[in-house]
Formats: sequence, C-alpha cells, structure tokens
Amino acid sequence: MKILTYGTFDLFHIGHLNILRRAKALGGHLTVAISTDEFNLESKNKVCAQPYYERAEIVHAIKYVDEVIAETSWDQKVKDVLENNIDVFVIGDDWEGEFDFLKEYCEVVYLPRTEGVSTTERKKDIIKKFK
Ligand code: CTP
Repeated sequence: MKILTYGTFDLFHIGHLNILRRAKALGGHLTVAISTDEFNLESKNKVCAQPYYERAEIVHAIKYVDEVIAETSWDQKVKDVLENNIDVFVIGDDWEGEFDFLKEYCEVVYLPRTEGVSTTERKKDIIKKFK
C-alpha cells in the first residue's frame, strides 16, 4: 500500500510526528509532499521559519517517511496520486471534506489533529515571550 500526505512541516512538532506515524501505520510506503517556500508565501501568505530544503531533510529523516516530494501548487494532487500509484491520501481533519474529489483515484482519510499544538501558535508564543 502506498500512502501520500501533504504539509508544510515548519518548526517540526509533535503534531507533525503523530500524523506521520499514523499515516505510515495505514500502509507500507509513505510519501510526504512538502510545500515549498514560494507556494506557502503565494498561496497561504505564510513565511516559513525554516527553508524548504531544511524542512524536507528533517521530514525525510523521520523513520516513518520513505520519500519526500515538493508541493508547488494546489492542483498537483491528482497527478501525484496517479504518478506515484498512491492507494491512500491522508491529511489532518482540519481539512475534512476538502479533498473528497480524490476519492475517484484513491482512498481519502482525514486523521484527527493532535490537540494543542500548531506552528502558527508556536510562532505567536515565541513572539509573545520576547516582546
Ligand atoms: N497536524 C496535526 N496536528 C497538529 C498540527 C498539524 O495532525 N496539531 C497535521 C496537519 O493536519 C497536516 C500536517 O500535520 O496534515 C502538516 O500540517 P502543517 O500545516 O504543516 O502544520 P500546522 O502546525 O497545522 O501549521 P500551521 O499552524 O502553519 O497551519
């Protein structure tokens, strides 16, 4: 079984580790598509603390992760699923329903988010502490 998930994975935290562990547990091979710095800025208006190459290397080194690819647009998912022979698309339930259009091509699973942690909150907390 081949699994695919997407994310930015900036300031890698326990919520990121948990979703990668749970995604891997669904099948044999886990591919992670990581948003590039440009895609984050242009599409989500978010500046990454860590550049793409660093986020990609960290995620690639996680023992649950077999392969890393770049996410550069919203429209690449069908192509990624088909080109990589993906059986299951996984993402956190903050995206519940958003990717149901992929059900035509593979199974779609929304996993519950780890409560109480997000990169955005971490960034805000750091800013508060040093003000
Ligand atoms: N995720 C999760 N639990 C969290 C935070 C993230 O399961 N507490 C999941 C997301 O649902 C997504 C993946 O981890 O499937 C990558 O999420 P990402 O957006 O990179 O992390 P966030 O911490 O949500 O970042 P931000 O606050 O910038 O949105």
